Amino acid sequence: MKHELAMEDASAAEALLISAEDFQKFREFFYRKTGISFEPTKRYFVDKRILERIEFTGCKSFRDYFAMMRFQASGAELQALTNAMTVNETYFLREEYQFQCLVSSILPEIVGLKKDASPIRIWCMPSSSGEEPYSIAMFLLEKWPEIAVRDVEIIASDIDTQILQKARKGLFSAHSVQHVPPAWLSKYFSRVGADYQICEELRQAVEFTRVNLTELADTRSYRNFDVIFCRNLLIYFDDASRREAAATFYDVLKPGGYICLGHSESMSRISSIYEVRKFPEAIVYRKTEEGGR
Ligand SMILES: C[S@@+](CC[C@H](N)C(=O)[O-])C[C@H]1O[C@@H](n2cnc3c(N)ncnc32)[C@H](O)[C@@H]1O
Repeated sequence: MKHELAMEDASAAEALLISAEDFQKFREFFYRKTGISFEPTKRYFVDKRILERIEFTGCKSFRDYFAMMRFQASGAELQALTNAMTVNETYFLREEYQFQCLVSSILPEIVGLKKDASPIRIWCMPSSSGEEPYSIAMFLLEKWPEIAVRDVEIIASDIDTQILQKARKGLFSAHSVQHVPPAWLSKYFSRVGADYQICEELRQAVEFTRVNLTELADTRSYRNFDVIFCRNLLIYFDDASRREAAATFYDVLKPGGYICLGHSESMSRISSIYEVRKFPEAIVYRKTEEGGR
């Protein structure tokens, strides 16, 4: 009897192992869905998260789980797994020189060329928990006097629905706000225990939406942006996904629109459809005025 139970335990444990073949299947599927490419060196990270989801959903094996996740009509499990797989690391005023570039160089150029009073549109993609779009909003209020007479729309998007809930709530850890100057901290945040709650004015200034950058159906309605901040996402993509992202951003931008990437990311390697602009504060990419590819 004891022996039979031990055998059952052993086969249940075996069913929960993820083989090299399973990993490869998952890897290809997840890449098609998100553009994120997991190298074999990331197996521990990936296996751990899949096993957690298998346990949570009560599935008996990777095979059962994979079938359920792919064919579930609601797509809820795919979203839950995506939320688990994303790396959401971010903090306020990360790579601050780009926000300085926005207010000192990019916005003055946009305003100089603008022929009407339509809003200036900024897309933060991906926003993660919101520190980046909120940093932009603070920079505009503190360092761009034109904000008094100009309408600016800040749309912030991410594939991860859980992190977007956190972003909308606007409650941040001390670690997250550590680079915010004390004067801004007391002006725009209030203390909630050990955390910092961002003020209502900034929460209202940013609209958060769920978008998968690699899904054309998701990005199709995003058009006429003057500036895109796409920082620290392309590092998780391979060259093919990066090229696709570059083409998507091209359609999203107005002619003459700008893209700011993370410091280790470059458009020129992956695309020749943008011009490189070297401003004193930062290098950014620009869709040409004519907008022709
Ligand atoms: C490291 S964070 C970058 C956040 C912020 N831009 C920054 O630089 O601090 C990367 C974010 O990309 C999001 N992400 C990953 N794949 C995505 C996709 N295909 N579409 C949209 N967002 C994605 C993740 O959910 C994660 O929040």
